[in-house]
Amino acid sequence: MENIEKYRAIIDIAFKACENAYAPYSNYQVGACVLTKDSKHFIGANVENASYGLTNCAERNAIFQAYSNGYRKGDIEAIAIVSKGKTLATPCGACRQVLVELLEKNTPIVLSNHKEEKITNIEELLPMSFTEADL
Ligand code: THU
Repeated sequence: MENIEKYRAIIDIAFKACENAYAPYSNYQVGACVLTKDSKHFIGANVENASYGLTNCAERNAIFQAYSNGYRKGDIEAIAIVSKGKTLATPCGACRQVLVELLEKNTPIVLSNHKEEKITNIEELLPMSFTEADL
């Protein structure tokens, strides 16, 4: 198992990003940080909306930031997704579908809520996925 301490810096940055969450409806704050292979960081926090379905999750905001700055899946080293909840915040179904397209299958997805920490990847989170390879 990979040593999670390698990702301590992006976990900490994701916890800082968590403080920027706009979550007046759920009161559940999530933060994310994408680390690129050239050592850039792109953060995201969840941003909710009174029309609930328009909410954007933290990890989608972070990865869209990376892509918006010209980075692509092969340039991404890892992503951290954190919350202060009592369980680990694992990506929702919509985010898994986004991540399966925008991350390499084995890119580390690092989860933390301070109490528990885990490294996973999108292949584990979304097996038998429908992707661009099916079109
Ligand atoms: N949320 C995220 O931002 N990422 C996750 O991995 C789980 C859920 C957000 C969406 C919503 O603003 C709040 O958490 C409660 O679902």
